[in-house]
Amino acid sequence: MNYNIAVIPGDGIGPEVVAETLKVLDKVGDKFNHKFNYTQVLAGGAAIDETGECLPSETVNICKNSDAVLLGAVGGPKWDALPGEQRPERALLGIRKALGLYANLRPAMVFDELADASPLKPEIIAGGLDIVVVRELTGGIYFGEKGHKDTPMGPAAYDVEEYSEGEVKRIAKVAFDMAMKRGKKVTSVDKANVLESSRLWRRVVAEVAADYPDVTLDNLYVDNASMQLVRNPKQFDVIVTSNMFGDILSDEASQITGSIGMLPSASLADGNFGMYEPVHGSAPDIAGTGQANPIATILSAAMMLRYTFGLMDEAASIENAVHKFLKNGYRTADLCGDAKESVTTIKAGDLIAAEI
Ligand code: NAI
Ligand code: MG
Repeated sequence: MNYNIAVIPGDGIGPEVVAETLKVLDKVGDKFNHKFNYTQVLAGGAAIDETGECLPSETVNICKNSDAVLLGAVGGPKWDALPGEQRPERALLGIRKALGLYANLRPAMVFDELADASPLKPEIIAGGLDIVVVRELTGGIYFGEKGHKDTPMGPAAYDVEEYSEGEVKRIAKVAFDMAMKRGKKVTSVDKANVLESSRLWRRVVAEVAADYPDVTLDNLYVDNASMQLVRNPKQFDVIVTSNMFGDILSDEASQITGSIGMLPSASLADGNFGMYEPVHGSAPDIAGTGQANPIATILSAAMMLRYTFGLMDEAASIENAVHKFLKNGYRTADLCGDAKESVTTIKAGDLIAAEI
């Protein structure tokens, strides 16, 4: 099969980690007889330098006409002085909106080989950990009505949390579909004891659950969920929640893993279309030094194979290659704390590709 992937290398370490990821994808293509075609496009600081805009319309068009998008990271000190709406990071909001990416998937995995990098006690994460936070990305309080008004206590500002049944239904479906491909458990997180929007959320999630008799549904209040994540994270498989709760919980969950250089993510639209990117940014402090860990981006490509292309064995071949790389004792600088004993970005890419 042929797959067309729009590739946005971006800024800082973005191009470095993306190059290693394409190397790995090409190996997967050779092994499983697929052709991955890449169209490199501009966004972020690189786009500003070249075109004056952080998200040229050509980039949006090419992304829309591709099967999936792979992104490195955007931004850096060079563009920090620009006003908010002209900054490279604006490209991320623009692209999510233009592509209708309403579901953000953030796995939190503990690799057995890296268990000592996790801040949690060994007995809590023994045998590894694999959970996914599914965060609603285009609704809720970040996009609700906002404004200012006068009150007896002085000038006030407000942001409105609002969810429609349709918005909840589609994000719940993403979570249940995902659970079917994984551990068959969904935990929906809300604040239904105080928020009207959460009561609607809880009701609609239960309605969607009725279509998935094989999946168990749990409901947790967000304050309890944040405790459970560090007390007993193994009780979770898929967590589905609103935009703001998901923003916070996914960052909390990611810390269980230990290093930001290991964390992939996906943002999905209807019809399995998705954009895949590492959780980390452009890491200007290490750009050009060969210290960037490419694994977060390589694992993002594995998610692309699994969730957009439905290529399960191919996705597993990438994850297994990363495991073998770690099992063989190789570490990038972020994982061993001493750049002298670590492998470079390029070497890591070569070694992981060789394991495919
Ligand atoms: P960052 O994630 O780029 O870096 C935080 C720390 O983690 C740094 O010390 C960095 O060296 C380290 N790090 C990050 N990724 C790594 C990797 N793959 N291997 C080894 N070490 C890694 O976050 P920061 O410094 O807050 O932001 C830098 C720039 O990136 C800013 O312009 C920010 O706006 C942008 N950014 C872009 C994102 C995106 O494109 N999705 C997301 C987050 C930040
Ligand atoms: Mg955040």
